[in-house]
Amino acid sequence: MRILFVCLGNICRSPTAEAVFKKVATEMQLEWHIDSAGTNGYHNGENPDPRSIAIGKTRGYDVNSISRQVRPEDFEQFDYIFAMDSQNIRALKKFCPRPQLERKVHLVTDFGSEYYEGGVPDPYYGAEQDFHNVIDILEDCCKNIVSAIQAKRI
Ligand code: 4NP
Repeated sequence: MRILFVCLGNICRSPTAEAVFKKVATEMQLEWHIDSAGTNGYHNGENPDPRSIAIGKTRGYDVNSISRQVRPEDFEQFDYIFAMDSQNIRALKKFCPRPQLERKVHLVTDFGSEYYEGGVPDPYYGAEQDFHNVIDILEDCCKNIVSAIQAKRI
């Protein structure tokens, strides 16, 4: 199984989603390929935001992936693509090479056990608590995504 997480800059939310999902997958002994990307490419080649790294670490996550922009081939190469908010979904679809592949795109918070208005909020201009909130939401959604895929509900 190959899963891609997408946000705007690929330095805060989606690298955190990648780290959270990798930990869940490892704990469940799933050898799935997990990656993340951003729609804007402004931070290509950069490490994750230092706040995502530091706060992730306090929560037991290794947030370490290098930022890259989404590519059209991602739609062929990944089985599922999870976006952090609806703006990401609109931007992502512009990279989709064939309309049939758009069905691979999902909103990550559609798998939350509660309703998260506006998806995973962008913490970039926020405070420490906003980075914790990103992790809280992603912990909830990622474990439910594993169950949904295993039960063939998506
Ligand atoms: P992310 O946060 O999409 O969660 O990685 C952002 C990081 C950088 C920018 C926007 C959002 N930016 O415009 O530089």
